[in-house]
Amino acid sequence: MVLGGGVPGSDEESSKVRERILRSERENRYLRRDSDDRKVIEEVFDRSTMLAVEELIARKDLGELHGVVSAGKEARVYLGEDRDKGPVAVKIYLTSASDFRKRMGYIAGDRRFGKLPSGSRQTIYLWTRKEFKNLQLADSIGVAVPKPIAFHKNVLVMEYVGVPPTPAPTFAESEVDEGDRDWAFETIRDLWKKAKLVHADFSEFNAFKYGGRDVLFDMGSAVLSSHPQAEEYLRRDVTNMVRFFRKRGIAVEEPGEVVERITN
Ligand SMILES: Nc1ncnc2c1ncn2[C@@H]1O[C@H](COP(=O)(O)OP(=O)(O)O)[C@@H](O)[C@H]1O
Ligand SMILES: [Mg+2]
Repeated sequence: MVLGGGVPGSDEESSKVRERILRSERENRYLRRDSDDRKVIEEVFDRSTMLAVEELIARKDLGELHGVVSAGKEARVYLGEDRDKGPVAVKIYLTSASDFRKRMGYIAGDRRFGKLPSGSRQTIYLWTRKEFKNLQLADSIGVAVPKPIAFHKNVLVMEYVGVPPTPAPTFAESEVDEGDRDWAFETIRDLWKKAKLVHADFSEFNAFKYGGRDVLFDMGSAVLSSHPQAEEYLRRDVTNMVRFFRKRGIAVEEPGEVVERITN
């Protein structure tokens, strides 16, 4: 069953979307009890999120929505289908998340985004737009990321990485080697040099290793290098990855030296 068809925003369509989502949630391996299903669906799919999903369907940026592949505190990621039935990842930021103040620092100071929104909902919408823009920018300079497809409000649609319904393994879940180390630091450098961008949450949990290719993702936090804390975030990203590769027994220079090479 494809979700489109009814009049977007109508009660009939709304309840169809709701039914479909509830079913998706039941397929979800993270949830056990029925009461949990209800709680989560209330939390994730408030009326405005439901409307945002419907809008993406009406625009044909999204077809079917399947089960949850990741249930984080701040966002949930679903397997979906695009209009040609190809797999897509649908990332939905929770508007109920209480962490929006933390996000402000990664928005203020990035001159792409003018006046700061005052409410939590608007902040989450802006965050979603920011992740979309960051993915576009990274993609445009040849950094491997999930290709961004569309976004609306707190819902982001992008290329699915992995063999559905299983997402590709992250670095944390993979064997890594010198090639992955080189990719990580070259990617940090390319972002800095060619896109003037710092990921700001670069870690073994936000990079896939898939079919002989490394793919960076989760780019909502990324800021332009003109952001007052850009260099601090850059150093933190490098230090995280140095620590990770060393833990895996792979030789890496000191973080300071790596940063030198990236910025010079
Ligand atoms: N494009 C994608 N394709 C397939 N799976 C994805 C994709 N994006 C995210 N995921 C899955 O969702 C998880 C969390 O995604 P992420 O963007 O890191 O969100 P969070 O903000 O919760 O950390 C990933 O570890 C992966 O399992
Ligand atoms: Mg993540």
